[in-house]
Amino acid sequence: MSRDWEELERWDRAYYLHGLQAEAEHSFTGVDATDGNYLVLADGTRLLDFMSQLISDNLGHRHPAIHGALAEAMERYGHVTYTLANEYRARAAKLVIADILGQEGWAGRLRVLPSGTEATESCITMARLYTGRSVILTQAHSFHGMTVGATMMRGYRNNISADEGFSGVADVPGWPPHGFIPIPPPEHEDWQANGRLPSLEATEHIARAVGPENIAAVISEPMFGAGGTFPHMDYMPGLRALCDKYGFLWIDDEVITGFGRLGEWFGYMHWPGVKPDLMAAGKGINGSALPSGAVIASAPIADYFEKARWWTGSTWDGHPLICATIVGNLEYLLANDIMQQVRQRGAYLKDRLDGLKEKHASVGRVSGRGLFYTVDLVNGNGEPIVPDDRYSPFTGDLSEHPNVIVAAENAKRGVFMGGFSPNTIKLGPPFTITQEEIDTATDALDAALTVIDERFTR
Ligand SMILES: Cc1ncc(COP(=O)(O)O)c(C=O)c1O
Repeated sequence: MSRDWEELERWDRAYYLHGLQAEAEHSFTGVDATDGNYLVLADGTRLLDFMSQLISDNLGHRHPAIHGALAEAMERYGHVTYTLANEYRARAAKLVIADILGQEGWAGRLRVLPSGTEATESCITMARLYTGRSVILTQAHSFHGMTVGATMMRGYRNNISADEGFSGVADVPGWPPHGFIPIPPPEHEDWQANGRLPSLEATEHIARAVGPENIAAVISEPMFGAGGTFPHMDYMPGLRALCDKYGFLWIDDEVITGFGRLGEWFGYMHWPGVKPDLMAAGKGINGSALPSGAVIASAPIADYFEKARWWTGSTWDGHPLICATIVGNLEYLLANDIMQQVRQRGAYLKDRLDGLKEKHASVGRVSGRGLFYTVDLVNGNGEPIVPDDRYSPFTGDLSEHPNVIVAAENAKRGVFMGGFSPNTIKLGPPFTITQEEIDTATDALDAALTVIDERFTR
């Protein structure tokens, strides 16, 4: 069936409630189909999806292991409420807690939810109930979702620019939010550490000022999804030590990094000996074939809730079809040693990016692990091109932001790859990416960086 994309564009522009771009600057890109590692656009163009959409579609698009499992489950299931059990819920929980995390010795139970946002929301509710305290410490530049609690928890202040010229920005009223206290972001990996990291020093001062007896938890991302920072190696052990010293929990937000993105099953595994109390997952748990999220609680926390009469539940809790996509995805990852594949293809990609850093004056830093890398762009003095960098309020003319220029240059060469922070390019291809496709993407980035060099470093 051929689609009338002109009419669809009219309907989309007229009736859909869009985010990020204002109406006047909205660019419409219709996707006609998704196919493996590619997006097929309305005009027939095939774009190599080098960001797995939102670093979410980890096995590419319509992978048979996931779609096959879904099709099979749909023969038997629609919806089953959470007061009843279903086959896939039990299998999904056993796969995560016993088969994947069993050797780790901390994880107790898992609950499946319909989004990463609800996973982080569940983590804060559980942390507050378990500790009897209300405050959540949350990092600048972090992102944890879109509901009100999660919005208050994120480390970006801006929310809406509604004036002519987009020169001002307003937060959701209620800032500073009750119950969430901002802490500094971690230093980058290339920070020249001389003693304890300043971010940890500041976090400890904040914790003491707030009163540790008021703090339920600190939430952090192993690698920042929106901000793109890979923390200094001293950071996670230092943060865990602060949790232990002052008796609050660590919520590990692995919505982007969980299930293999950083070349380990979970991002926290890059820091030996560091284990979470509560973990939020999503995206990669089922490759985002359906909306998904999960909360994973440590054994003592899981025990506390399981032994209690806990009034909680969502219509979507443990949905059989979502759980079937989780089972299809995880069984495939386990059977095919995908972690090894991620590490091996990631090493090739990292090599190519290091080569681009040598070649281009505008590349200041390459960070990441596995198949998630970020490239930070600098001017001729080695400073961030947009001075606010990760503190950008996203006001004014965004078309001048280096990430927007790079995304447009990449698209001209058939590659979907850009970024969120103005100076930061994000690369997060599907685990199914081939060496040739990595070459295609990095060749496109090479050409885009030549444009950035000319514009900003001369
Ligand atoms: C680290 C992190 N946490 C939470 C979320 C929210 O997940 P979702 O969009 O599935 O609600 C995201 C989404 O990008 C994320 O990157």
